[in-house]
Amino acid sequence: MTTYFDGRWVDDAEATVSVRSRALNYGLGCFGGVRGYVADDGRQVLVFRLDAHVQRLAESAKVLFLRMPGTHAEVAELHLELLRRNDVHYDVYIRPLLLHNSNAMAPVLDESTTSFTMFCLPLKRYIDKDAIDVCVSSWRRVADNAIPARTKPTGAYLNSALARREAFDGGFDEAILLTESGKVSEGSAEHVFMIRRGALVSPPSTQDNLDGITRRSLIQMATEDLGLSFQEREIGRTELYVADELFLCGTGAQITPVKSVDRRAIGDGGIGPVTRRLQQHFDDVVHGRVAKRKPWLFPVWG
Ligand SMILES: Cc1ncc(COP(=O)(O)O)c(C=O)c1O
Repeated sequence: MTTYFDGRWVDDAEATVSVRSRALNYGLGCFGGVRGYVADDGRQVLVFRLDAHVQRLAESAKVLFLRMPGTHAEVAELHLELLRRNDVHYDVYIRPLLLHNSNAMAPVLDESTTSFTMFCLPLKRYIDKDAIDVCVSSWRRVADNAIPARTKPTGAYLNSALARREAFDGGFDEAILLTESGKVSEGSAEHVFMIRRGALVSPPSTQDNLDGITRRSLIQMATEDLGLSFQEREIGRTELYVADELFLCGTGAQITPVKSVDRRAIGDGGIGPVTRRLQQHFDDVVHGRVAKRKPWLFPVWG
């Protein structure tokens, strides 16, 4: 496939960094994760909230002293060009990546050594199950004051990977991480929503979690399009066990229903009615079937 690397369009095999790179040795960088959905005509590809993703990448770059490779409009256009160059007419995931790509010793954040690369891959489901069993991880979410999770920093995914490994070893599909003070933060790569006493509830993006674009979009869809009531507040661990419905969401996971937490069934152990409604609406929105939400979609072709 064709990949973008520091101003050039190259074959994947040529888009490489040195084993000496700081980015690799110390995990110095940040990335994005963007999805394009093939439209109902089977040809057009609609990139979901591309502007918001570029904005978040720019904010992450600012926090981590990385340099964006152009204006927001130019970076957004590179995403679309990547899909055109790869002749993408299928559901796709795009990964833009900013790296502190110096081969010098010591972890240093220096804008002038930024590399920017972008690749894409076909992606249907990130979590390949209709509903999942999750555990609460024994690993705590890395605190914003230690590594700012809101920036999607490469190094922080060691935290996610430890939690996922523990979950898999325990026979679960995914992990939910708590903050150091024991409140629900997020999944290894997803945000957490529960439905309790008639309201949709999700912890704020100040709970050591990523500033989530699916999360923000879902809150708007739930409240403005479906008239659901929403509360942004802390969630305690045991509240998860007594939730009426629970789901994880993210660019990869989309809306993934949770059927149990730490072996306690959620609701009747199936997919709840509110979750189903949100899933259906989300599917309609990302495929361009909801006129009001078309401004969220960026067409690749034509
Ligand atoms: C740690 C983490 N939390 C949450 C999410 C979901 O965020 P978004 O909806 O912006 O993709 C992701 C990425 O997809 C993630 O890596």
